[in-house]
Amino acid sequence: GTGALMTVHVGQCGNQLAQAFWKSMVDEHGINERGQTTHEDDMNDKKDLLFYQADDDHYVPRAVLVDLEPRVINGMMQSPNFSNLFNTDNIFLSDHGGGAGNNWASGYCQGQEVQEKIMDIIIREAENTDNLDGILFTHSVSGGTGSGTGSLLLEKLREAFPKKVIQTYSVFANSDTSQTTDVVVHPYNWVLSMQRLIENPDHVVVLDNAALHRLAAGKFKTDTPTFDHINSLVARIMSTSTAMYRFNSPVCPSIRYLDLAPFPPMHFIQSAISPVVDPNENFTRKTSVADVTRFLLKPTSMMVSTASRVRPNDCMLSAYMFLQGQIEAHTIMSAEQNVDFAINRPPFYMLKPLRMMHAPLSPYVRPQYKVSGLLLNNSTSVAPLFESLLSKYDKLRAKKAFIDKFEKIVSGLRISRKINQTFQENFTLDMMDDAVHIVQDLLEEYKAVVQKDYLTRGL
Ligand code: GTP
Ligand code: MG
Repeated sequence: GTGALMTVHVGQCGNQLAQAFWKSMVDEHGINERGQTTHEDDMNDKKDLLFYQADDDHYVPRAVLVDLEPRVINGMMQSPNFSNLFNTDNIFLSDHGGGAGNNWASGYCQGQEVQEKIMDIIIREAENTDNLDGILFTHSVSGGTGSGTGSLLLEKLREAFPKKVIQTYSVFANSDTSQTTDVVVHPYNWVLSMQRLIENPDHVVVLDNAALHRLAAGKFKTDTPTFDHINSLVARIMSTSTAMYRFNSPVCPSIRYLDLAPFPPMHFIQSAISPVVDPNENFTRKTSVADVTRFLLKPTSMMVSTASRVRPNDCMLSAYMFLQGQIEAHTIMSAEQNVDFAINRPPFYMLKPLRMMHAPLSPYVRPQYKVSGLLLNNSTSVAPLFESLLSKYDKLRAKKAFIDKFEKIVSGLRISRKINQTFQENFTLDMMDDAVHIVQDLLEEYKAVVQKDYLTRGL
């Protein structure tokens, strides 16, 4: 049969995304807060894609939760929705308990001390699964734990699972220059994380908080969206992008079938969902394939704030559109032709045709819309986001701003806990300079791929 997926969640953001994601997973698979089935099983419901069975009617998420501070995970374990759902052996909280203070170096160094324990949990979980296809990973790249410990875990995961699909959902801090960002050193944390995101996963779904925030503020009944609102959007991206596997689609039964990154390491995926409506709205929107498709293809619908700056040469390297709801096969085919016509001319062009798929819906949940959709778009239009973050990094680096914070943490940890002989004096600056080169190489690839001779070069 087809395989299974497991999830790994790291840091505050990673675990808050776990809550949003797993809440929608239990609903979509007809499972209650104690892991018991609430419905007669539907033929197409593949609960075992993300859950394992503890006994005849008890399902447990195949999820690993990691944090260096206890607040978020403890909160989850005390909430009625989750306290009896997760396997508590799959939780790693550090004894130290102080988090990583928005500092990548702290998260990475502390991660080195505890990575064996965490990897034991993950490997045990993977070995309990007959046929693991991949790992979904959630974190932010601008704090300390999700970015630093997350970076280390991505390295370890790639080593331990060279052939599994590793797909991250990575939250980037507000990149918009007009907005004050919540973490001053986020460009440092980002550049160091970015190297690991280039080198290790198969796909990185880039979630830009600025774009998520703007969409939620525009569409929800609030001007000040909370993380709950924003995370509900991310949960929809995660749930729609896995619906094909979870509900037994013959077209795309496994994450292995997706060819999202034909030109690695350009594996940074933008996403858009439609319609975006308040999850508390309780009537059914009469959306159509045409509306949904049109919205998904607008640059301003992308969950990356810089994508709306359309550049003449931008190019889709690979893209999938998943449509859900009441749709007939011929509507998808004609929509596919329309899209082909609409996109494949300046200012857009596609290196691979956009593929449209009809994704199944949960048999247990009443949909909020007649038709809904998700676009996963591997496009060169993600590059300006990286350029903008890199220039912010350059400004901090030029002044060596806050570098002492990083150095102090690293040397403090080195002395107090006798770790990391490999880390030399200028460890942080050297590591950052290495990371910058790797990011610059990626940006060169994005420039090269839009040149006409890219595919034939070197033949
Ligand atoms: P430390 O607390 O520094 O040890 O690391 P951490 O990984 O726990 O930090 P955190 O995940 O809080 O990272 C901070 C970044 O993540 C900031 O840019 C926040 O705006 C963002 N963030 C935090 N929580 C959430 C969340 O629930 N959803 C989203 N979308 N972003 C979040
Ligand atoms: Mg934290």
